[in-house]
Amino acid sequence: MPTVLLLNGPNLNLLGTREPEIYGSMNLSGIEEQVSAVLHEHKIECETFQSNSEGELIDWLHQHKNADFLLLNPGALTHTSIGLRDAVLGIEMPFLEIHLSNVHQREEFRHHSFFSDIAVGSLVGLGVKGYLLGAQFAVDYIEQEGTSAANR
Ligand code: DQA
Repeated sequence: MPTVLLLNGPNLNLLGTREPEIYGSMNLSGIEEQVSAVLHEHKIECETFQSNSEGELIDWLHQHKNADFLLLNPGALTHTSIGLRDAVLGIEMPFLEIHLSNVHQREEFRHHSFFSDIAVGSLVGLGVKGYLLGAQFAVDYIEQEGTSAANR
């Protein structure tokens, strides 16, 4: 069965109570359940993880390097982490960068991302819908890969 990874970085464990005017009222388990449901409908496995530690996020990616697609919200590491960027490049996994908030409408330091130039695409400012659209995109991506592999 194909597998999609859903990885969330620092402070996203606080969703639901953290700055709800910016990040909304749904908690992380709610997001993980909804994303998993979209993927399961298409017989795709979903592995989820969140950590506040850069090293744990990197180790988890290394351990799951055989998965097919990654949905990634790196949180604040978006703007700082060459290490996490290198991990994603190192495992050669196609991924979408997801942000609940529109980082481009916020402070200047959130305008730069270490992930946008290497992502398949970015979903920014769409709230929880960004994760669900990302999951739908992952389904299409995996199904297309399967079709083209069968035609090779
Ligand atoms: C975020 C945006 C980041 O700038 C911030 O540090 C986060 C959340 C978002 O989902 O909007 O933690 O990635």
